Amino acid sequence: MSEPGYQSDTLKEFTPEPTDARRVVVLISGNGSNLQALIDAQAHDELGGEIVAVISNEPDAYGLQRARDAGIDAVVLPHREYESRDAYDGALIKVIERHEPDLIVLAGFMRILSPRFVQRFLGRMLNIHPSLLPAYQGLNTHAKALADGVTEHGCSVHFVTEELDGGPVALQAAVAVADDETEASLKQKVHAREHLIYPIAVKWFLEGRLQLGAEGVTFDGQPLSPQGLRMSHADAAEELDEDQAP
Ligand code: GRF
Repeated sequence: MSEPGYQSDTLKEFTPEPTDARRVVVLISGNGSNLQALIDAQAHDELGGEIVAVISNEPDAYGLQRARDAGIDAVVLPHREYESRDAYDGALIKVIERHEPDLIVLAGFMRILSPRFVQRFLGRMLNIHPSLLPAYQGLNTHAKALADGVTEHGCSVHFVTEELDGGPVALQAAVAVADDETEASLKQKVHAREHLIYPIAVKWFLEGRLQLGAEGVTFDGQPLSPQGLRMSHADAAEELDEDQAP
């Protein structure tokens, strides 16, 4: 403890070295609009870390171009060149680990992951899914929600476990389904919410606020409900400058 009035010439001249930025690897297969949201957040110093590599299993994924445009290492690892899921996932683990990530972010990575892969990164791998999980796991979530006539839909950020789209949820954003909603309009609203909450969840993880423990997800040390934290339709609509009437 320093005494009152204590001054150190050494400390006065001390320039703190930046601590190593937290490292993020993003996996994609396609357009990469969620990747773009993460890149934009990083550009505004709002990600809490650095995207050090983007890896795609699809050579033509537009997200690779987004990565290059942002000066991020863009890696193509085509799954078709491997004879089995296990062989591919083994190669993917190697490429990911070369980048020494603190967090692996799945952003439209359209691959079923082997148990070995999931176990390797358990507790430090997030995914975003276009539904309010546990509702509508799998594909075509917007069409299914509309067919069921639900009044509320949305998206979820969750930790990845061996159960496809079944890992513990950290953060959701809701959409009130309008009377004249179409699949396209619903998809667009959900996407906008994905871009809103994914960078927030990543930042919380990198700051150590969001964690996966034995009892599930905790936020600032407090256990979350199975739905995680929820951004309401009204709050999301306001953030996005949407017309709030459902
Ligand atoms: C998003 O809808 C996400 O929820 C799902 O895949 C889609 C990826 O979109 N996991 P993009 O490539 O980020 O535009």
